[in-house]
Amino acid sequence: MTPVETAQRKFRRVNEIIEVHGHEQAALVPILQEVQAEYRYLPEEILTYISTAMRIPAATVFGVATFYAQFSLEPKGKYLVRCCDGTACHVRNSKPVYDAIRAKVGLTDGKFTTPDLKFTVETVSCLGACGLAPVITINNEVHGKMTPEAAAIIIDTLLKRDGDN
Ligand code: FES
Repeated sequence: MTPVETAQRKFRRVNEIIEVHGHEQAALVPILQEVQAEYRYLPEEILTYISTAMRIPAATVFGVATFYAQFSLEPKGKYLVRCCDGTACHVRNSKPVYDAIRAKVGLTDGKFTTPDLKFTVETVSCLGACGLAPVITINNEVHGKMTPEAAAIIIDTLLKRDGDN
C-alpha cells in the first residue's frame, strides 16, 4: 500500500465528509464542523490531510480552524460543560457554580480538560437562556437555575453513569 493509500484509509471518515460537501474552499467551514463533531476536536494531522485532499493551502485551513471560536485544536472531554458567565448569570452567582464544577472534576492550574479526557469545562458569555440564570450546558443539554450543590450532583450522576463511583 502506498503512503497515500494508507492515509486515505486512515482518514476514510474525513474523505466521506469531504465528498458530501465538495472540494470548494467555501465548503471548508461545514467540513471542519462535521469533522470536529466526529473527533470532538480538530487534530493537526487531519487538518493537514484536509489541506492536501482539498488542494487548499495548509495556512488557509489552519487559519480558518483557529479563527472561529467554535473550533478547537485541542482534544475536548467526553462531557463538554459550558458555564455561562454573561451578565444575567454572573449577577446570579455563576462563578461559584463554575468553581464547584472545576473542583468536582479535579481541574487545577488553568487547565480546561481533565487528563482522562472525560470533562472539558469552559465559560461562555451568554447561552441565550438568561431567564434561567445561572445556566450551564453539558453537551448542549441546558441546566438552568444552577447552584454549586446542584452542579456537583449532576457531575456525580455523570461519573456514576460512566461507572467511576
Ligand atoms: S447571561 Fe447566561 S444565559 Fe444569558
